[in-house]
Amino acid sequence: MYVKNAWYVAAWSTEVSRELLSREICDVSVLLFRRENGDAVAIGNRCPHRFAPLQMGKLMGDVVQCPYHGLKFDHRGACVENPHGDGKVPRACKVPSFPAVERHGLIWLWFGDQEIAEESLIPDFSCLVDTENYRTVGGTILMDANYELITDNLVDLSHVEFVHEGILGSEAIKRGRHEVLQDGLTVHSNRWCPDGLAPPAWDAMFGNYGKPVDHWLNMRWDPPAHMLLDVGVTPTGRPVEDGIMILGTDILTPASKTRTHYFWAISRPYDLDNPEVDKAWEQAIDAAFVGQDKPMLEAVQVMMGDKSFDELKPVMISPDAGAVRCRRIIADLISGECSVAVDHANCGEKDAPANRASH
Ligand code: FES
Ligand SMILES: [Fe+2]
Repeated sequence: MYVKNAWYVAAWSTEVSRELLSREICDVSVLLFRRENGDAVAIGNRCPHRFAPLQMGKLMGDVVQCPYHGLKFDHRGACVENPHGDGKVPRACKVPSFPAVERHGLIWLWFGDQEIAEESLIPDFSCLVDTENYRTVGGTILMDANYELITDNLVDLSHVEFVHEGILGSEAIKRGRHEVLQDGLTVHSNRWCPDGLAPPAWDAMFGNYGKPVDHWLNMRWDPPAHMLLDVGVTPTGRPVEDGIMILGTDILTPASKTRTHYFWAISRPYDLDNPEVDKAWEQAIDAAFVGQDKPMLEAVQVMMGDKSFDELKPVMISPDAGAVRCRRIIADLISGECSVAVDHANCGEKDAPANRASH
């Protein structure tokens, strides 16, 4: 079960072109391409005749020709040509089409009721395209794990001390203050870790070797799994402006119940023109996300077998507070108890939103 009325990221803008691209999203095979006018289009990828993947076909103008028997479909999913017999197009001969919006360098799709497909519900990831103030590196990781397991991992950053020992972890993180705040359907899971040694990756980046720092990790989550992490270090007791920080984009799109597209990016407001720093961040992410988080999350998925999260009656510990809140919102959205369209202002508890300046 997935949240139906929500925007899902299908791809980076740069991935969608005049080449046909297919991607599985919430168990649906979706075909992505650009029209001749440059608009991004998303339609069903399964031909309704004998179920060939349209992605293997040809894009001719704004029309896709099925590779098997040549039916043609337009950007709205309507069959516009049947090359056989009298050329009549059966009424059922069409594929679904999905509203596609290009925002923040990403292609967002809506699978739910089209009347409430409000673009204003797309969370703010403007740092991804703010090239004046940030340099962004990013990519996509395919993980064989349920997207809510990955949300647990990202919203509860207590794992960094253990999974990312020697890269992102530090002893100060464990004894840091953790608070969870909710504003409408947005959850903030904030960790403030004062007066400790910086995690090794931050120590090297900050060039602060061995001196104590205050470290913050503030995660903003919006359903179904759109996260932005404000993370950084500053010399102990000094304002955050005296340190360094980055904004980390972590957007998860379920491919299926046990497979997830993980769109990640690091936007940094320093060393904008230094390709060496780009490379350092790409290597750090590869080592941490691909080398450490991915095997852990995929192993967790295997250990769960065919049981659901609730069936296994997971034990709860204090760092789970944020992730539990996110899971509850997802469950309420799926059951209909909440709605993204009307409940952004009044669903669940409402706390003051958090920000770095409050430290
Ligand atoms: S499978 Fe597409 S035209 Fe036959
Ligand atoms: Fe991690």
